[in-house]
Amino acid sequence: MDTLRAISSLILLIISIINFTNAVPQWYNGTDGRRYLVEGEQKYNWFQAFHECARRNLQLVEIESRQKNEILIAILKPLFGNSHNLWIGAIDEYNGQKNYNRPFYWHSSGKRMTFSYWSDSNPDNDRNDEHCVHMWASKPNYKWNDHHCDWPRLGFICEDHYLQAECRKVSEKKITQITNVAETVVGEYYEQQEAQIDSLKKALDKIETEELHFKEQLNELLTQIEAETNTLLVKYRMEMNSMVDERNRVLHNTNLGLRSAIEVLTKKFSKKLETTKTDYRNILQE
Ligand SMILES: *[C@@H]1O[C@H](CO)[C@@H](O)[C@H](O)[C@H]1NC(C)=O
Repeated sequence: MDTLRAISSLILLIISIINFTNAVPQWYNGTDGRRYLVEGEQKYNWFQAFHECARRNLQLVEIESRQKNEILIAILKPLFGNSHNLWIGAIDEYNGQKNYNRPFYWHSSGKRMTFSYWSDSNPDNDRNDEHCVHMWASKPNYKWNDHHCDWPRLGFICEDHYLQAECRKVSEKKITQITNVAETVVGEYYEQQEAQIDSLKKALDKIETEELHFKEQLNELLTQIEAETNTLLVKYRMEMNSMVDERNRVLHNTNLGLRSAIEVLTKKFSKKLETTKTDYRNILQE
């Protein structure tokens, strides 16, 4: 008996763990680019559902257009089939009239409901006590019903709080504006930078060209100096040669003069020598 009890309590524990795991609501992306938190577990009244959204900084979903309704149904059908009991964020502010045309309001934003998707014969305010709105499992295609708010057996749908959504919209707009301004400034900066780089390149090119020209001129000058130096060298060499020639000529002439003088002398003295010789001979023979 004890074993059986232990097993059954274990099974209960497992079931409650599974239930707990299942109870985590899931996020789904709509084709409108927005996200919706869907809780399928049938265990919340409207106030609890409202609180479940609020404690996550969310709101019970507000379905203000046909398009949004269709986007939601497209999310829900693969999850639950044809319909399901899910609280949405509308109430009639505890209106006591049994009036199908009484006003309903989206509770978080306070906006009056304009688009609606009521099931047949609703919102009937049955027993003057049906002030909260839900998608109704008893009618096809997630049509709406009014019901008493403390019916504790529904799931719910949350979405980002409308203030957060607005804030995000404003932020995104500002980010876009700032990005545009930044891009313009950066664009201008790059443009100016490019222009400066361009003019720097041109200046460098000019300097290079001038340097080339300068080198050419220098080379020309060097060539000219070399040529003139050569001419001068040749001229001086020629002058030096002619000076040397002149000197040689003078030396030669002097030589010639000396030689002829010596010859004259020799002739003169040889005659005298002959005479002297004869004189000596005569003296000796005497
Ligand atoms: C929903 O969209 C967000 C952001 O685009 C993405 O990170 C996330 O994975 C999507 N979730 C699902 C279930 O497709």
